[in-house]
Amino acid sequence: MSCVFTLIAAQDTLIDRAVRLMSETPLIDGHNDLPWQLRKQFNNQLKNVDLYKINNTHTSIPKIQKGRLGAQFWSAYVPCDTQYKDAVRQTLEQIDVIHRMCQKYPEVFMFATSSQGLIFLHHIDIMEAFNQNKTASLIGVEGGHSIDSSLGTLRTMYHLGVRYLTLTHSCNTPWADNWRVDSGSDPSEHDGLSPFGKQLIVEMNRLGMLIDLAHVPVKVMNQVLDMSQAPVIFSHSSAYTVCNHKRNVPDDILMRVKEKQGIVMVNFYNDYVTCSKTANLSNVADHFDHIKKVAGHTIIGFGGDYDGVTRVPQGLEDVSKVPDLVAELLRRGWTDEEVKAALGDNLLRVLKEVEKVRDNQSRTPPDDVPIPYDEVENSCRTSYGYPESSSAAAVQPLCSLALLLTLALHSLITAW
Ligand SMILES: *[C@@H]1O[C@H](CO)[C@@H](O)[C@H](O)[C@H]1NC(C)=O
Ligand SMILES: *[C@@H]1O[C@H](CO)[C@@H](O)[C@H](O)[C@H]1NC(C)=O
Ligand SMILES: *[C@@H]1O[C@H](CO)[C@@H](O)[C@H](O)[C@H]1NC(C)=O
Ligand SMILES: [Zn+2]
Repeated sequence: MSCVFTLIAAQDTLIDRAVRLMSETPLIDGHNDLPWQLRKQFNNQLKNVDLYKINNTHTSIPKIQKGRLGAQFWSAYVPCDTQYKDAVRQTLEQIDVIHRMCQKYPEVFMFATSSQGLIFLHHIDIMEAFNQNKTASLIGVEGGHSIDSSLGTLRTMYHLGVRYLTLTHSCNTPWADNWRVDSGSDPSEHDGLSPFGKQLIVEMNRLGMLIDLAHVPVKVMNQVLDMSQAPVIFSHSSAYTVCNHKRNVPDDILMRVKEKQGIVMVNFYNDYVTCSKTANLSNVADHFDHIKKVAGHTIIGFGGDYDGVTRVPQGLEDVSKVPDLVAELLRRGWTDEEVKAALGDNLLRVLKEVEKVRDNQSRTPPDDVPIPYDEVENSCRTSYGYPESSSAAAVQPLCSLALLLTLALHSLITAW
């Protein structure tokens, strides 16, 4: 009897400690696909959505409150089959629905774009939202296909509040290979990043956009770690040594992330946790332990991938359960400081450093050199702005005829 009592008391203590730590440091999660559920289930018509009552998603307002979600990078994700079609419009609509979700529930969400401090005369940072007992709501765009090979589009998305770009989703872009190249499912087209892909990395550093390496192959991870002036993130990836899935992060990369003072935010998807269809909370904690063992507690974070996956671990069924995982880390001997690092301090450090790299380059002009036309030529893309010779082949025969006439006229005039 007393033995049972002791067990329960110890359990309570851990949960109490977890909840106390979560009231001192915000839990900042790297990736949640609720916005994609809003499109799939409601075509983004928020008047038909009640986030207090919704019960077929991993995320709802009651679950958020129970789970003490301090800050969330909401994913503005659109699938790869929108590439070369309407990816940009669909991504803008996902950005819009995140803004509208915050506007519909101002008592719960506060839109945020920075770590801490007064920006643009508004309080729109993670710590301010946390101090007001609201979930800081940031945006991450998942997949380079969403910017349609355009730095202007990248910058515009930054102005709309986007703070990370996952370089690829599960398809190659005209400038980067995706993780499926490592599993042999997709061919390598760029040997990692193309020259334009490298241009993009430099521009993301200048802008203050977090570079997310979830979903890229190891070659790209290394190229970005070589190049980036700022720390990088994995918004929702786990440890490769614990589960040999190519979406996970190998130990040598964990070491490089540590050198760069970046962060790996652990994904809870069963298939990445155990490499099988089933998993439990303890299996997820194994990833936290492994990353801590290899590279220390300063590179770990939470990146649940809720509402983006179909199978989640027993004990971590939805966002309300995260405090149980925090309690499990405490049970495994994590110190308060280590737990707080993983909860939010690490991500805040990364974001501040990325903001510093941005501020140090405030006099560097934006990169306005476009991707070479022949690297993005397709039937849905016009060539306005490019020299006509580079586009002649892409347009209709009639246009080529006009071009010939223009050229003929031009030589006539210059002959004069
Ligand atoms: C889930 O929500 C639907 C629609 O609001 C409702 O009809 C249903 O009864 C709810 N189910 C449960 C188990 O609460
Ligand atoms: C913070 O919000 C939660 C609901 O998420 C509520 O239960 C709690 O009382 C609030 N705390 C304060 C200090 O307002
Ligand atoms: C979690 O799953 C592992 C097998 O991967 C098992 O050994 C362990 O007992 C499970 N833990 C709980 C708490 O169910
Ligand atoms: Zn993903």
